[in-house]
Amino acid sequence: MATVRLDQKSRAIVRLISDSYVNALAKYFGTGPSNIDVAREQHKAYIDALKSNGVEVTVLDADHNHPDCVFVEDQAVVIDEHVLLPVPGHESRRGEQPPIAEFLSNHLKGHKICKMEPPAMMDGGDILRLGDLFFVGRSTRTNDAGISELKDLLDHLGHDLRVLDIPSDALHLTSIASTPTDSIIMAAEGYLNPEDFGELPQGCELVLMPRDEVYGCNTIGLQGKKVIIAKGYPRVQSALEERGLECIVLDMEQIRAADGSLTCCSIFY
Ligand code: GLY
Repeated sequence: MATVRLDQKSRAIVRLISDSYVNALAKYFGTGPSNIDVAREQHKAYIDALKSNGVEVTVLDADHNHPDCVFVEDQAVVIDEHVLLPVPGHESRRGEQPPIAEFLSNHLKGHKICKMEPPAMMDGGDILRLGDLFFVGRSTRTNDAGISELKDLLDHLGHDLRVLDIPSDALHLTSIASTPTDSIIMAAEGYLNPEDFGELPQGCELVLMPRDEVYGCNTIGLQGKKVIIAKGYPRVQSALEERGLECIVLDMEQIRAADGSLTCCSIFY
């Protein structure tokens, strides 16, 4: 999930799908992509949806040696005037980071770059921002040392951090939850409970969706009360529309096949 607030979501980077995408890691939502051409069409529609809704999008070249390179969210975390470059939790994904780090360093001159070092590890997909409150998932990709480095940064920035344990049948926190606005968390029942999030700030709401719509709980909130959602999750769509949001629905089937969700494919900065 984006680690910027809604009013800061005007620019994003994405990365093209690698020729080796069929070898992407897949263990949770999918068993692996089966059609790169369709994956590329779906990814293009994703880029078009961001652009046509006011986001300035920079498209980085694919890295054909890294099947998962399209999932840029895991590689860098932009919070206020800081960029945290985590140690990605899966060793096969660590080589994806340099071009993303270089782009952000070149384009965010005033930002401080903080580089995590092993044994700390963290995927950006384990971080969720609700206004000025942050959540992090302790998962197979994010360990306590990584969480401790994130906490140091957030303490410095004056933001609170709450830690949630990610169930063994989910990859990341953002695989099972997202913040479609700065005051709504959407999460899947059976994966997370209200007590996992704790008491929310005044005016904020936790919207729990049925377990079978877990993939739909990953959404991208945009300015102008718009939210990008994945196709096929009617109860997610109704819940968002009931709250006055306009849904932009994208077919993510070949992205889901590699355990990727909407937020995995972009970094807002
Ligand atoms: N396929 C995305 C990941 O496992 O990181």
